[in-house]
Amino acid sequence: MSGSTITPWVVGNWKMNPMQADAQQLIQDFKSLLQAHPIDESSCYIGVAPITLALTTTQTALSSANRMVYTVAQDLSRIAATGAYTGEVSAELLKDSQINFVLIGHSERREIFGESAQVLNEKMKNALNAGLTVIYCVGESLEQRESGQAEQVVLQQICDIATVVDSEQWQNIVIAYEPIWAIGTGKTASPEDAQAMHAQIREGLSQITTYGQSMAILYGGSVKPENAVELAACPDINGALVGGASLNAESFHKIAHAFANTK
Ligand code: PGA
Repeated sequence: MSGSTITPWVVGNWKMNPMQADAQQLIQDFKSLLQAHPIDESSCYIGVAPITLALTTTQTALSSANRMVYTVAQDLSRIAATGAYTGEVSAELLKDSQINFVLIGHSERREIFGESAQVLNEKMKNALNAGLTVIYCVGESLEQRESGQAEQVVLQQICDIATVVDSEQWQNIVIAYEPIWAIGTGKTASPEDAQAMHAQIREGLSQITTYGQSMAILYGGSVKPENAVELAACPDINGALVGGASLNAESFHKIAHAFANTK
């Protein structure tokens, strides 16, 4: 299997947005768009990641869509199971609420909340052991890119998790390459630069796991309808993790449509 035969994923990361009424409207609008312009399930997986508080209401609202739209958690605890850990939500509790997907390693968690490789590994281990599928985010800063370290940084972030992922668990991981300088800035990596990094990531994964050639590698960082087709045309870009543009139903639908039709 080569990178271009992998079913693409388009996942909306709503971050710390929106207010309840707006979230309900967003879901409603997205369902109406899917009704009017269907996107075949086999051509693209679609997911949205709301705030923790809205995971189950989002899932319920999405259950009446005309196709599967997965609900994704934005984070989970580094502590497993249940217990006296005020404010935390474990992998098992997500699974217990039928939330089967989670983001780990987003640059905002790494940078703003100081999550180290060790913390991320604990989260990764718990998520995979509880049977969740993980969207693991990697990406370099502008400084790292400008000093020629981008590849090394990203490949190290991939290697970091190798110590806790069992050989069969790699098939439950999706990688999201998100250059930090492209997140929320309106700047996107050029399709050539993104493809080059994705090819490096696939090469790195292939040295670690036999699933390297079949794992989806998503691009994230100012993905919008205007650049989605070009990004989707790159052989090793198997989808998108979309922040800002996922808060608009029409934009998000167009991006999913672009990946479904270009792949
Ligand atoms: P953006 O965010 O699309 O707003 O750049 C992407 C992300 O952080 O996942």
